[in-house]
Amino acid sequence: MTDPNPDVRAGTDSSESRRESGGDELEAAVDAVVSTVARTAVDVRQGLVGRRGKTASENPSGESQAEADVYADELLCDRLGSLAAVGQYASEERAKCIDCGPTPGSDSASDADDGLERTVSVAVDPLDGSSNLASNNAMGTIFGIYDATLPAAGRDLIASGYVLYGPITTMVVADDSGVTEYELTGGERTVIRDDVTLPEDPVVYGFGGRVPDWPADFREYARAIEDELKLRYGGAMIADVNQVLTYGGVFAYPALESRSAGKLRLQFEGIPIGYILERAGGRSSDGDRSLLDVRPESLHDRTPVHVGNADLIGRLESTLE
Ligand code: AHG
Ligand code: MN
Ligand code: MN
Ligand code: MN
Repeated sequence: MTDPNPDVRAGTDSSESRRESGGDELEAAVDAVVSTVARTAVDVRQGLVGRRGKTASENPSGESQAEADVYADELLCDRLGSLAAVGQYASEERAKCIDCGPTPGSDSASDADDGLERTVSVAVDPLDGSSNLASNNAMGTIFGIYDATLPAAGRDLIASGYVLYGPITTMVVADDSGVTEYELTGGERTVIRDDVTLPEDPVVYGFGGRVPDWPADFREYARAIEDELKLRYGGAMIADVNQVLTYGGVFAYPALESRSAGKLRLQFEGIPIGYILERAGGRSSDGDRSLLDVRPESLHDRTPVHVGNADLIGRLESTLE
């Protein structure tokens, strides 16, 4: 078992120790959430048919919502919100968190002594890459499980994962024991790779945004990477990150001249994906520190996202210094 990235922050340790204290209950909560997402993924994938159009509404990030965004969010909210282990549900598609049980988080652990249910919070990007619906390209579902109320920082994360609606439906889940990849058939999970770690030699890169909108320092970094790696960018973070996890490399949606916080959401995309890449022996960064050390002020904060092989992220941070 390859140790996760050695310079993974204290945050993970504190969530590990918290896992120890809340041990079995948190373990059970994670399993309940992961199995529910796996089962719901079957319905999400089937429900994409006939829901590829735009609605008239916008999400809290000001983006227009696809019918499938709303559909996936409603399914996940119903099913995750009805789990006894889930105290709070939040999604990229909803302005506010939904309270659906006892307050999550270790400070409510004292309640656990009275036998009250220990609950977790789940933050979900119900459909990541939904602009790919029109072109029928891959997309995904992202989830983060926190032992705290939301908005929560990466150190409160106890597990995260994503479903990839590709040629087959797969799921990647990270927790303090490492990263596992599953094939989903009929909502059942079959392990296809346990102890997933980033390949030593990076092969692919994918950078979001438009080149003229990249700050000069990121453009300098991109120029060097373009000469070394192969471009793989498909417009859905999950599909692009899954290529990095499979072949090694770097994915970034950087800060933009037009929008210094970039495009991706810290709570729903940056933190859960940063956690997975760091547990797979890679690194994450907002440009100067791990995404897991960035505390969201508000639920829909955006952040520049850079994830991948540790040395590639190290080079990025020294270029952006
Ligand atoms: P979402 O569909 O959840 O809003 O996420 C879309 C994100 C992310 O998946 C992807 O990396 C990025 O938007 C693509 O942005 P561009 O269309 O600007 O490339
Ligand atoms: Mn969206
Ligand atoms: Mn997304
Ligand atoms: Mn989305």
